[in-house]
Amino acid sequence: QLLVTIFSCVFSGVWSVGGLEVSTGKVSTLEAMNGSTVLLPCTYSSCIGIKNLYFNWTKNGTTVLCEAVIPIEGVEPKVSVFHERVEFVGSSKSNNISILLWNITFEDEGDYVCFAKNPKEKNRNHSAIFTLIVVDQVKEVDNTLTVIIVSVLGGVIGLVILIMVIKALVVRFLCKGDEKNKECLVSSGNDNTENGLSGAKGEKQGTPKA
Ligand SMILES: *[C@@H]1O[C@H](CO)[C@@H](O)[C@H](O)[C@H]1NC(C)=O
Ligand SMILES: *[C@@H]1O[C@H](CO)[C@@H](O)[C@H](O)[C@H]1NC(C)=O
Ligand SMILES: *[C@@H]1O[C@H](CO)[C@@H](O)[C@H](O)[C@H]1NC(C)=O
Ligand SMILES: *[C@@H]1O[C@H](CO)[C@@H](O)[C@H](O)[C@H]1NC(C)=O
Ligand SMILES: *[C@@H]1O[C@H](CO)[C@@H](O)[C@H](O)[C@H]1NC(C)=O
Repeated sequence: QLLVTIFSCVFSGVWSVGGLEVSTGKVSTLEAMNGSTVLLPCTYSSCIGIKNLYFNWTKNGTTVLCEAVIPIEGVEPKVSVFHERVEFVGSSKSNNISILLWNITFEDEGDYVCFAKNPKEKNRNHSAIFTLIVVDQVKEVDNTLTVIIVSVLGGVIGLVILIMVIKALVVRFLCKGDEKNKECLVSSGNDNTENGLSGAKGEKQGTPKA
């Protein structure tokens, strides 16, 4: 059992780093919309195992959001929360000490540090930083506006191409109509409306693409 643990530690590379590790995962920066609720992820691992592992979450290295002690592996901690919109959602079963930050505002922007200290490893400590950026909903509206502008532009370009095609066709008919100029003009007029109809279809198809 111990051998397996050591081997797995050596292979995961944790051993060489040394004991306790905390991690906020692959993504350490998150952009979230004003008013939304975000998960601040954090997990810990220790090759030696934990005993009375202390952890806390702080913001900008000053404000303590919550803290707790995990007595031993698998025992859920009693978490003290010092922020009204913070909720502890972690679980010792999955070495998870993540928190939720409810209804974020722009003041919530900043660096969130997940810190852990393991007395079993001579109080070795480790921390990981998670950066939260709050964006306004207006950004989404801007995107929609851009899409509309691009669509309209695409439609206009499509229309210009259509007109050019019709013009070319008309010119061709006019040139061809050596013998019956009058009829040619009339028929070309008919073709025009037909082209116009099918052209309108083509334009509709083109718009979502843009
Ligand atoms: C809480 O975490 C910070 C690191 O973010 C650490 O410096 C501080 O000592 C911790 N608080 C306690 C009571 O250990
Ligand atoms: C978040 O906002 C919703 C709606 O305004 C409210 O019902 C809820 O209680 C808020 N939650 C917290 C933790 O403040
Ligand atoms: C930690 O727990 C939260 C809430 O249950 C979950 O959403 C998240 O995916 C977990 N993280 C990991 C790394 O297991
Ligand atoms: C935390 O840091 C962010 C960016 O670094 C800053 O905008 C914010 O005002 C800081 N908050 C506090 C409470 O210091
Ligand atoms: C964390 O560990 C470092 C040494 O690795 C030590 O200097 C520092 O004081 C420790 N911090 C806490 C809060 O225990």
